Amino acid sequence: MNSIVSVERRAALALVTIDNPPVNALSARVRAGLLETFAGLTADPGVQGVLIACRGRTFAAGADISEFGAVPPPTFRELFATIESFPRPVLVALHGTALGAGVELALACHYRCANRDARLGLPELTLGLIPGAGGTQRLPRLVGAKAALEMILSAAPIGAGAALELGLIDRVIEGDLLPAALACLEELVATRAGPRPTRARAVDARGFDPDFVTKSLAGAAKRMRGQEAPRWAADAISAAVQLPFDDGLRKEGEIAHHSEFSAESKALRHLFFAERAVSRVPGLGDNVVARPINRVGVIGAGTMGGGIAVAFADAGIGVQLVESAPELLERGLARIRATIESSMTRGRITREQAQERIGSIEGSLDLERLASADLIVEAVFEDLALKKRIFRDLGRIARRDAVLASNTSTLDLNEIADESGRPQDVVGLHFFSPANVMRLLEIVRGAKTAPEILTTAIAVGKKLRKVGVVVGVCYGFAGNRMMMEGYLREADQLLLEGATPEQVDRVIESFGFAMGPFVMSDMAGNDVGFKARETVGIRAQRPAPYHEVTDELARLGKLGQKSGSGFYRYEAGDRTPHPDPDVTALTERLARKFGVQRRSAIPDDEVALRCVYPLINEGARILEEGIVARASDLDVIWTTGYGFPRFRGGPMFYADATGLSDVYAQIVRLHSLHEHYWEPAPLLRRLAEQNSSFAAWDAVKAKRD
Ligand code: COA
Ligand code: NAD
Repeated sequence: MNSIVSVERRAALALVTIDNPPVNALSARVRAGLLETFAGLTADPGVQGVLIACRGRTFAAGADISEFGAVPPPTFRELFATIESFPRPVLVALHGTALGAGVELALACHYRCANRDARLGLPELTLGLIPGAGGTQRLPRLVGAKAALEMILSAAPIGAGAALELGLIDRVIEGDLLPAALACLEELVATRAGPRPTRARAVDARGFDPDFVTKSLAGAAKRMRGQEAPRWAADAISAAVQLPFDDGLRKEGEIAHHSEFSAESKALRHLFFAERAVSRVPGLGDNVVARPINRVGVIGAGTMGGGIAVAFADAGIGVQLVESAPELLERGLARIRATIESSMTRGRITREQAQERIGSIEGSLDLERLASADLIVEAVFEDLALKKRIFRDLGRIARRDAVLASNTSTLDLNEIADESGRPQDVVGLHFFSPANVMRLLEIVRGAKTAPEILTTAIAVGKKLRKVGVVVGVCYGFAGNRMMMEGYLREADQLLLEGATPEQVDRVIESFGFAMGPFVMSDMAGNDVGFKARETVGIRAQRPAPYHEVTDELARLGKLGQKSGSGFYRYEAGDRTPHPDPDVTALTERLARKFGVQRRSAIPDDEVALRCVYPLINEGARILEEGIVARASDLDVIWTTGYGFPRFRGGPMFYADATGLSDVYAQIVRLHSLHEHYWEPAPLLRRLAEQNSSFAAWDAVKAKRD
């Protein structure tokens, strides 16, 4: 027997323990250990009942995700069939987060108990998979087909109480799990309850009709945009309803195999590990300890400052919010109250929680009030002189051990940091709007940021439950730079060449983005990018035309939704975009001005390629400059902050999946047509010529770092 599965005799009972930290993933070694254990227990007539439990912080949180694509023997099916057909009762005791194959293991046992805090879930769809180790066949036999589909499509865990109500478990244990579970097993043996194989049960198919399935899939499509796995799961559950167990299991096996090798699952598995890799920052040793952050100062109660204050309040951290004038402070606080109250109205938090959060944000007009803060986040206008002045003051006011952060999107963080006189204490915390909702946080490492400050910023990101990606200083950092120097620049150029905002948005949305670039610009305000280009003087440094349509709209006051027109026209009080003939007239005029040849039709394929490929090219430059540690960080940034389709894994993964030599060839071709902007990034060229990939580049770099 291997050391990660152990067995202990307690009189006539056997306690089988899995110990595979950190999350007891059911890897091949665990499966082999369990099989071997059950072979031994079957042969031992003295064993009257078996209890399966896990050591450590959680029951098995699933299959070992890194095995997918080449799952080594023994199979889950073989293991679960062995457990299910064991001739004496098998009870499982769940704690922590029993997920995926962990729950499927429980389904294959004869009886299930869990402690009160346990959570059970089937998150496979988030990885583009279905519960393919019997889950889609056994779950409906316990909870009915309708509840099974709901649970699988939601992908979210449920509590032990809800699991008991559904019939997924038999008992909730209030005290110490193991002794109580052993007592349960003793009782089962004493009452001669015997084995109770799930496979032998009938499926309750009430309510599982085509209408229910269609509605459920429509709901899932909103949450899992562009994914096919929800449909696969519904097909597998239909098989459970229609077929005998073994035939259903066979059908599930075919679907599971297909899902495991699908492009969607490969992409989503990549993102699972990519989101966890971001916290491994080269040059930051484990011995660097984060400072405690209990009291935060936020400067500026505008769109971002307000959202940032709410994000901290949501995480239970008190905020001192500083504005420049009483009416602006009052307006900011009113918006904050409205945001928190709307979470309450939507049932996300209770009235008491809302009151507590509102009460934890205190307004002030006096920067000196920040003297006691552990962390100060500046979110005033994007104005270098203003930010410099504030950091000069903060250098004096803030405690010696305080962390000073700026939320600037486009300004040079190093210049701002130097002004404080203590640049080692300064870091960028680039939140995304709305800051209390968006998962992405770019953590900007300045030239002089101290390791301890960076570590603290990463810990703050985790506390806020955000995905914090460390980036270096450059114009727009990683995400906005790829957007402005690639994606939006090219979308704008396509309008000059004769595309319409409607076409570009339609193509990008059907590629899988949450929103097309022009609907997004109209929502964010066309003045935002315009002002940034003006302030930093970027337009003067770039060959024309460069964001000319957007900037002309901004000059004309066509700022988007907030002014009633932009790339689209809006009716009062309505956010529906309507095509605007004025925009076509404007693009025709600008095309003449800049000598751009217009075409009567631009193929959709070209639109998609010209918006997406510059992300890859600029991404490659960012990588080579060391602005981010790995290509997968850019995938995380674009899928969590910019609506890039998760089922495509992010721009760099998408490039790898397409093949870098193809991507490179297209960029070379575009460069021959548009010489200013499509110069292939040297890293992309090298990798393409070596027939390599960004993933391979990441792997080599990880070894070096
Ligand atoms: N397979 C392989 N590795 C896994 C894993 C799995 N099923 N679940 C977690 N891990 C790894 C993570 O990659 C991470 O490794 P790292 O420290 O080297 O980066 C480590 O375990 C801890 O996971 P993390 O997510 O950082 O911990 P957490 O406490 O925040 O969350 C879970 C714990 C179990 C809730 C979360 O890891 C999770 O949801 N796991 C996936 C569950 C899943 O999808 N299961 C279905 C698979 S069929
Ligand atoms: P905003 O105009 O909505 O808010 C800025 C606030 O700062 C205003 O309320 C203003 O009164 C206040 N302010 C100005 N001077 C001040 C001072 N001396 N002391 C205290 N408060 C002062 O702007 P915003 O959109 O919230 O942007 C703020 C910062 O966040 C900018 O640096 C911007 O680049 C960055 N940012 C914005 C977004 C976004 O989507 N809006 C996203 C990421 C980062």
